[in-house]
Amino acid sequence: MKDSVLQALRQSDGFVSGQKICALLGVTRAAVWKAVQMLRSDGYLIEAQPRRGYRLAFEPDRLDRMKLAELLTTCRIGRSCEILAQVDSTNTLCRTRAREGASDGLVIAAEHQTAGRGRSGRTWHSDQCQALQFSLLLRPALPPSRAALITQIGAAAMAQALVSAGFEPQIKWPNDLLLNGKKVCGILTEMSCELDRIHWVIMGVGLNVNQTDFPPDIEGIATSLAAVSGKTHDRTALLAKFLNAFEPLFDDYLANPASPQALEICRRRSSLTGREISFTDDAGLAQKAIVLGIDSVGRLEVRLADGQLRRLLSGEVHL
Ligand code: BTN
Repeated sequence: MKDSVLQALRQSDGFVSGQKICALLGVTRAAVWKAVQMLRSDGYLIEAQPRRGYRLAFEPDRLDRMKLAELLTTCRIGRSCEILAQVDSTNTLCRTRAREGASDGLVIAAEHQTAGRGRSGRTWHSDQCQALQFSLLLRPALPPSRAALITQIGAAAMAQALVSAGFEPQIKWPNDLLLNGKKVCGILTEMSCELDRIHWVIMGVGLNVNQTDFPPDIEGIATSLAAVSGKTHDRTALLAKFLNAFEPLFDDYLANPASPQALEICRRRSSLTGREISFTDDAGLAQKAIVLGIDSVGRLEVRLADGQLRRLLSGEVHL
């Protein structure tokens, strides 16, 4: 009801009478009034005038399921979507939904996470209604050995989304996006599989959008779209841009696993190629290396100080 009344208010140019909304939706005036009260308590400013009706004067920046549906050009990614005011972690809830049998393409987004998770057991800081944080459920018919590249498809899709919003992001292999050298987006990919088949992959994405300040421990290394551009950005539109970019790149990978387009984007926007990095190898030893590039299966090719060539499949690397 709330969503339908909001839609009726959005569609009217100026005031719309309560009676007209009732007729449009086939509900009572009391029901419309109740929906208006609920919208007001969600932060919408709705003017009411005798004989003229209601007018939507201000919309708060909230993730909006109806608007998302209108902006999507996808067939399945994001067509099923849950948007929550608060959750512990969208990845954790998405895992529950996966176990309950939710289908490929489900998106769960939240305005606030109380226990957002980052990679390597870190926590992911979440500002109420400022960031875009969501998880995407995928059920690809791929062997688990091909799953690592899904993170890079996510990074490539986010790069495209940010380019279409006017930014020039870099991708820090395998799953961070940078603006002006600072982290603006992180991706946490989790999977359930057997030896030869994937049950599900959950790709959790955290994008800093409208934050203007960060906690002291990350303020030197994190940034947001608003901090870079000096203006606020519509998070629902950004989510749609990401999902619209992701589906064709993902389908391309399923059709051409040997030469996915997403890898080209990751190579073109790589922040690491040609740079010296440090990483911890499988034996737990700290290593320094020069990055040569990204190979055909998405591994980072590096040359160690002693001239050896190594290919890294996943993990943290530092500049
Ligand atoms: C990282 O860079 O460490 C990855 C961060 C991933 C954060 C996102 S926010 C949405 C989703 N839910 C979580 O709990 N984590 C991911």
